[in-house]
Parts: sequence; structure tokens; C-alpha cells
Amino acid sequence: MRTQSVLPLLSILGAARGARILQSNDDGWAELYVRSLHDALRGAGHDVVLSAPAENKSGSSSSDREPEPRTSPCQYDSCPANGGPVGSNATDPRLNWVNSFPVTAVKYGLSTFGPQVWGDEEGPDLVVTGPNVGSNVWLAVPFSGTVGAAVEAARNQRIPAIAFSGADSGTLRWDTSPVPARSAVYAELATILTNKVLDAGAPYLPDDVFLNVNFPRLTAQCAAAADFRWVLSRINPGIISAPDVETCGDDRLPTENEVINSDGCFASISVGDATDKTTAPAEKQAVVLRKLGNFLTCL
Ligand SMILES: *[C@@H]1O[C@H](CO)[C@@H](O)[C@H](O)[C@H]1NC(C)=O
Ligand SMILES: *[C@@H]1O[C@H](CO)[C@@H](O)[C@H](O)[C@H]1NC(C)=O
Repeated sequence: MRTQSVLPLLSILGAARGARILQSNDDGWAELYVRSLHDALRGAGHDVVLSAPAENKSGSSSSDREPEPRTSPCQYDSCPANGGPVGSNATDPRLNWVNSFPVTAVKYGLSTFGPQVWGDEEGPDLVVTGPNVGSNVWLAVPFSGTVGAAVEAARNQRIPAIAFSGADSGTLRWDTSPVPARSAVYAELATILTNKVLDAGAPYLPDDVFLNVNFPRLTAQCAAAADFRWVLSRINPGIISAPDVETCGDDRLPTENEVINSDGCFASISVGDATDKTTAPAEKQAVVLRKLGNFLTCL
């Protein structure tokens, strides 16, 4: 398995409990970041189904359209030409593509691919999207398909959702070998937070909330998942906004940019409002703050 190096660590993190997780992204089903996360979540014992666009649909926000039959192969030649409007990996029914937008892929995952694998209509416990290839902070958030997919889950399907993005970009085929560190480390970080949210118990997140999570670039100092710490942040600068939840001696949270660009190795976690993709109000931030507890640090 490609992310083998990640597995021994994950197994001692305590989140052995297997949750049903639906995955999507906007960079395409055959992009390595989403596959590394798929392997890491499965390695952590979760029951995971991927349903993502057949090709790069970066920047497609909350667009949604009935998938049309393909005439050309999927991204990186990952499906044959004329493969229809949706399809699956020939040998692994957990890996699926939809010839449309990220939101549409989430809907197909919930209506079709998830039930096929899970054997009932109960649906997933959690939807996770990304890691996106490149950051999704502030002004980029409303345009991001990775965020759009998470918001579809949280807002319209009432399923808790987390959108992950990694600052280190550059596209990678799903079968790149060996797996570059950035793909493995982002996958491991995303799995750590996913397990943390699940371990804090249901309801996993407040209604109409998604988490917007950004990882900084890897450096010599920030090279392994264990090097990173987690900071509660906000999506937009809060100049005229109502106060944030009080933490770290302040009622104004740092922005995602402040967190991921500061010295040290910090990942940002913003509590997003799924009704408008901005920062959620303080009382919803407070629920997440309580749940994550000392998992969070101050900048
Ligand atoms: C997808 O396309 C966007 C521009 O439209 C580009 O910035 C991004 O790197 C691409 N991602 C992949 C995985 O090809
Ligand atoms: C399909 O799954 C097989 C078995 O896991 C894997 O070897 C192959 O690379 C996958 N191909 C795609 C396009 O997902």
C-alpha cells in the first residue's frame, strides 16, 4: 500500500472506531492527495467511499449539473473514453468518478456509490473533501469546489463535513510512486483531525457548519505530521465582525493566512458557516473549541 509508512502511527492514535466516510475533492478522483487520504482513512479502520469529479474541477464552487457521458478518458487516463457519465475503478468499488462538479459527485456518492458499498441507505457519518492541491483561504473559499462539496454535505444533506487543503501544490497522478512526502503528510494530518472530530462524539459538528482546514507547506522543520500543531482560525479578517469565541486571551481569532504563514508548523481550523461560506458565529465556534479542547494550541 502506498502510504504504508503512515499506518503504524495511525494505529496508535486510538481512533480505531470505524466510521462511514464519504470523500470528494475538486482536483479530480485520480489526484494523489485524495488517494493518499483514502488509504490513510482506510488504514485507520474507516469505511470509506470516494466519489469525486472525473477530472480537475478546481474553482467550481457549488456548481451542480447532471453528469454527461464522457467522450475522452478521465484525468491522467484513469478511465477509458466513452466510459459513461459515472464510473468506478474496475476492481475497487470504493473509488468512483462522476463526470460533473464536486457537489454533483457528493450527491452521487450519497445516493449511489455509498449505498452500493455500505449495503443500506443510512449514509455516512462524515464527509471529508480534499486535501485540495493548494490553499483555500479567505477570498478563495467561496470559489473552491473542495469547499463547495463540504458545504453541500453540511448545508443541504445535514452531514458533518470537513474541507482540507494543503499549501504545497503541483499535481500528482494517483499512482505516483514513491508517494511524495507532502501527499503522505497531508493525508496523515487530515486523518488525525478526522479521528479527533469523531472521537469527540456525535453530533460531530453543529448544524450548518463545516470545518475549513488548511495545512502549510512542508519544510525541513515541518516535515512530519508530528511536527504540526493546530490553531482555531477564522476565514475572513474580522475587522467589523462580531467578536469570535474567546480563546488564547482574545476574542478575535487569527486568520487562516496568519496561522499557516507564521513561524512554526501550524495548521488552521476555521469553523465555517455553511449558509454563506464565511466564518461561523461565536457560539458555533465555541462548540468546536470545546470538542477539540487541548488538541488546539495558541499561535
Ligand atoms: C486544476 O486546475 C487549476 C486551474 O484551473 C490548477 O490551478 C490546479 O493546479 C489544477 N489541479 C490539478 C490537480 O490538476
Ligand atoms: C484501481 O484500483 C486498483 C486496485 O486497488 C489500483 O491498482 C489501480 O491503480 C486503480 N486505478 C485507478 C485509476 O483508480
